[in-house]
Amino acid sequence: MSFRVCVHGLGTIGLPTAALLAEAGHDVTGCDIAGNVVRAVNAGRAAFHEPGLDELVARGVASGRLRAAARPVPAEYHIIAVPTPFAEEHRPDLSCVEAAVDAVLPLLRAGNTLILESTVPVGTTEQLAARIAAARPDLVVPKPGAAARPGSIHLAHCPERVIPGRALQELTQNDRVVGGLGAGCAHRAADLYCDMVRGRIALTDCRTAELVKLAENAYRDVNIAFANELAAICGRFGVEPWTAIALANRHPRVSILAPGAGVGGHCIAVDPWFLVHGAPEEARLIRTAREVNGAVPPRVLRRIRDAAARFEVPRIACLGLAYKPDADDLRESPALGIVQDLARDGREVTVADPFLRGLPPPLAALPNVVLRDAAEAVLTSDVVAVLVAHTPFRGLDPRLFEGKQVVDAVGLLAG
Ligand SMILES: NC(=O)c1ccc[n+]([C@@H]2O[C@H](COP(=O)([O-])OP(=O)(O)OC[C@H]3O[C@@H](n4cnc5c(N)ncnc54)[C@H](O)[C@@H]3O)[C@@H](O)[C@H]2O)c1
Repeated sequence: MSFRVCVHGLGTIGLPTAALLAEAGHDVTGCDIAGNVVRAVNAGRAAFHEPGLDELVARGVASGRLRAAARPVPAEYHIIAVPTPFAEEHRPDLSCVEAAVDAVLPLLRAGNTLILESTVPVGTTEQLAARIAAARPDLVVPKPGAAARPGSIHLAHCPERVIPGRALQELTQNDRVVGGLGAGCAHRAADLYCDMVRGRIALTDCRTAELVKLAENAYRDVNIAFANELAAICGRFGVEPWTAIALANRHPRVSILAPGAGVGGHCIAVDPWFLVHGAPEEARLIRTAREVNGAVPPRVLRRIRDAAARFEVPRIACLGLAYKPDADDLRESPALGIVQDLARDGREVTVADPFLRGLPPPLAALPNVVLRDAAEAVLTSDVVAVLVAHTPFRGLDPRLFEGKQVVDAVGLLAG
């Protein structure tokens, strides 16, 4: 069956979703407040890099089933995939979600389904229902656990768990959790996804779906924190952490993750705070994990500064700027923050990141920061800080590092 769909927010999540729904035969309009995003889609491409996405968008636009607009349009399904950052003191900032809901309010008709894909604090879907009910008393709005009522709209939370770089595969292959607000809502939302998703679709209530998504990212954060804490403990005892972890992982029921220069991106570094904010007395381990991971970049920075203190005019090379290996994504990147701090110290910093074509705005204007090829950066430096385990760095000749002060935050040279 083909539906009219409006996707609000055409970023990492919204645009691949919109393009895949169009590919599955639905009539899709994506709306975004950023003019360049809308223009790019209507020109048949994405405004950001995601493997295979340009081709998919071009096909959707050429078929007439996909288009972008600055304003939402009437549709049987509205999907909201806008950012959900945190504000001061790690309070969830739902202003983009609320703005998207407010924009769709006048368009909602009986029988329409509103699906929230953004990652949100537990209880948000219910709060949005109350917002809609207050603004549109003419609509029948579902209630948690209540029976379906004739002429009702439908509300559901369907969190996304894809990894950028593999969005198209994971959007279709991952299992999905669909949480409905009232009776029938989850089924109604699943009706849209079933043509696109080849993974299993599990139906539940919206509170459970909201919690599941946050639990997934908190789980990752806690496990990364364990690895980072262990690396710090190894440092205290003069033990090489990557060797110790590799040996511990030979235990059949142990699987310790890799330590690094910190946790970045706008999911794992953000979403656990939604649990801490909502359940401050209970989420003690989750809060501690955030604090443990947050303390890693300052510790790496301290090690680099200590190494640099041995030289009168130290030349520092920083390998990697992205928040994770083999990506160009700089959101909340610990490596970027470390380089900015070194630059503020007035140090000469040579950055190497094979996934970037140029230095990003906060660094580009600085006279003491340059971007170079990795081998050249190492060769011309006194101190080398390895901040991201990009695969191309593994091909560097180990002899390049001889005689250098090396701060290897990711175990590139280990073992
Ligand atoms: N990126 C991921 O890997 C990932 C994975 C799982 C979940 N999520 C969640 O999905 C949500 C969206 O994340 P993303 O990575 O796609 O964000 P993004 O920053 O890549 O894109 C968001 C888009 O929404 C647009 N936008 C902002 N406010 C809007 C509004 N009121 N109306 C219409 N458009 C608006 C922005 O211009 C932007 O183009 C977030 O809640 C995020 O936590 C992201």
